Amino acid sequence: MEYTTLGRTGLKVSVAGLGCGGFSRLGLGTGKSETDAIAIIRAALDLGVNLFDTAAAYGTEPVLGKALAGVPRDKVVICTKAPFGISNPDSLPERAVASLDRSLKELGTDYIDVYQLHGIAPRVYDHALKVLAPALLREREKGKFRWLGITETSPGDPEHQMIQHAARDGAWDVVMVAFHMMHQNARRHVFPLTQEHRVGTLLMFAVRNIFSRPERLAETMRELADDGLVSRELADNPDPLGFLVHEGGASSVIDAAYRFVRHEPGVDVVLFGTGDNEHLRSNIASILKPPLPEADRARLASLFGHLVGVGLDAPHLSRAGRVTTS
Ligand SMILES: NC(=O)c1ccc[n+]([C@@H]2O[C@H](COP(=O)([O-])OP(=O)(O)OC[C@H]3O[C@@H](n4cnc5c(N)ncnc54)[C@H](OP(=O)(O)O)[C@@H]3O)[C@@H](O)[C@H]2O)c1
Repeated sequence: MEYTTLGRTGLKVSVAGLGCGGFSRLGLGTGKSETDAIAIIRAALDLGVNLFDTAAAYGTEPVLGKALAGVPRDKVVICTKAPFGISNPDSLPERAVASLDRSLKELGTDYIDVYQLHGIAPRVYDHALKVLAPALLREREKGKFRWLGITETSPGDPEHQMIQHAARDGAWDVVMVAFHMMHQNARRHVFPLTQEHRVGTLLMFAVRNIFSRPERLAETMRELADDGLVSRELADNPDPLGFLVHEGGASSVIDAAYRFVRHEPGVDVVLFGTGDNEHLRSNIASILKPPLPEADRARLASLFGHLVGVGLDAPHLSRAGRVTTS
């Protein structure tokens, strides 16, 4: 594993971080058991992963707590999130504080390393900054968490408007941002700011559905060609990103996807979500490989650098009412 510094927090974090949400939710979202989920977390630890990202909304805090029990607390960096949505009552500061207390209990820990507000849309950012952050910072003084973070609602904010404010405002030590091979605009809008203000970055959506499901990629290419945003030739190609896979290049589209984000200047931690042990190993291996060849990166920039908001699946609720895609 390789380690880096998470912005001004000074935390030493693995460049690969295990995401406990997304579609997989450590496998719990795809029918696997709690024992399997614990095994995924333990395997990640064995491979040197020390940063884990969960959220009250994911329902994976208890399993993360169980898997990390017995690991010296200063050996891991635990990130979790307050449930949010301005239209729901969790946007009251006392609800955010209550959620923080619940998260501490579910995780079985005395403190959280990075406590984040989850999926903040630009229109509610002021409330997050002026009402929720001050209430949470009072809890920080009691030692309940160490650093404050904020995550964007990528499908609703593809231009990263919220983070463009957050990076400058001084209240947020860490931001979580979407960036991938076909949604590259954080390079322009986010990373120069986070680097200037030494805000730590957690990268999400590197693969998501668009690169893990070939049919989703094909469908997206067709839609983009219909809108004149990519060539028809690309949409008609059964393997439109196949040019990335070659000797000296990537071993698969997913390998390319993780390597593409990992080496972007300004990216601290690449989060990856999985419930599959083989994927865990190959994703970490990809994140640790060198950058893609320059010619492939240039081609990705010229083919897709103009796209905005592609491949960001909107969250939806499971039958149990949980957010399953954020
Ligand atoms: N607004 C927010 O706060 C927000 C929103 C989104 C995500 N996040 C965070 O970011 C984390 C990462 O997002 P994500 O879960 O969407 O991660 P991701 O790494 O971009 O995509 C994970 C998806 O790709 C599949 N996959 C992973 N590796 C694979 C491989 N080698 N081969 C084939 N399929 C593979 C996974 O299924 P398998 O289980 O089959 O591997 C899963 O469906 C989340 O867990 C969460 O912590 C936060």
